[in-house]
Amino acid sequence: MARPKIALIGAGQIGGTLAHLAAIKELGDVVVFDIAEGVPQGKALDIAEAGPSERFDVTLKGTNDYADIAGADVCIVTAGVPRKPGMSRDDLLGINLKVMKAVGEGIRDNAPDAFVICITNPLDAMVWALREFSGLPHRKVVGMAGVLDSARFRHFLSLEFDVSMRDVTAFVLGGHGDTMVPLARYSTVAGIPLPDLVKMGWTTQDKLDAIVQRTRDGGAEIVGLLKTGSAFYAPATAAIEMAEAFLKDQRRVLPCAAWCDGEFGLDGLYVGVPTVIGENGVEKVVDIKLARDEQEMFDKSVDAVRGLVKACKGIDESLA
Ligand code: APR
Repeated sequence: MARPKIALIGAGQIGGTLAHLAAIKELGDVVVFDIAEGVPQGKALDIAEAGPSERFDVTLKGTNDYADIAGADVCIVTAGVPRKPGMSRDDLLGINLKVMKAVGEGIRDNAPDAFVICITNPLDAMVWALREFSGLPHRKVVGMAGVLDSARFRHFLSLEFDVSMRDVTAFVLGGHGDTMVPLARYSTVAGIPLPDLVKMGWTTQDKLDAIVQRTRDGGAEIVGLLKTGSAFYAPATAAIEMAEAFLKDQRRVLPCAAWCDGEFGLDGLYVGVPTVIGENGVEKVVDIKLARDEQEMFDKSVDAVRGLVKACKGIDESLA
């Protein structure tokens, strides 16, 4: 049986890490595409040369030609520019929208059956634009945000509770980062919800609030430290978790920026919601009932995403 084909659009910091992880996990043969000449070829060759030591049996190819992504089963999109210190994700909108147009058309023409995972920021608007430009079915185009936001939340909670990250679960909704909505009642340590852990004296509400804020600012914290770019190891790992769920039909329950049309009372918008990811892409949006304070936070997040989508339509008339 042929190995799955994984196309990585963008060979920068995240793209290179994605290629490395996909190879090590033997998820499939990897094609790395970028407009920069030499970069995808160099990264693909460098990773291929790790094969004898790591013992993976996949091929890696770097390219500047969209024709090489033909027939890809998965496309993970990181093409665009990342943040510099002091920039918000939204500052990237104009530049990265043009990139989404080129990438969306490249996928439409060469890999229309792929499951597409967008990572480029501002995420919730870029995944929408990418879907519009590519014309692929909505359930086959998702954005990676919630898996990363919840991983950051889980990491910080595990430090607070001094327990394994594996036993901490987190449930987040909404837009990426700043307007992320953590659902404390559905976030647990081995099934014990966070509000109960406060009552048990494991932590305080103030400390929990600070952890939520640190999670929301998680991307900016890394940008502030790196100074020359944004996070790449954890974002790449999160997207690979999503790709694997699709390729292996795992039916993982993962928070993704997914198309909601009816779910959560929305009439056609990409926003972070819990989904079931399987062989068809988004198999289901897990449409839970929100408490009043959660709904208020979610509404704020939805408004922020709507604002970005409107801005995209203002920049590119073909989207209006
Ligand atoms: N087509 C293909 N690749 C492109 C295009 C394009 N039109 N425009 C830019 N690129 C490539 C760049 O040449 C670069 O190699 O995208 C790559 C981006 O890599 P980095 O600058 O290293 O950015 P990275 O850290 O990987 O982040 C990529 O993900 O998390 C988001 O905010 C982040 O939007 C950013 C994206």
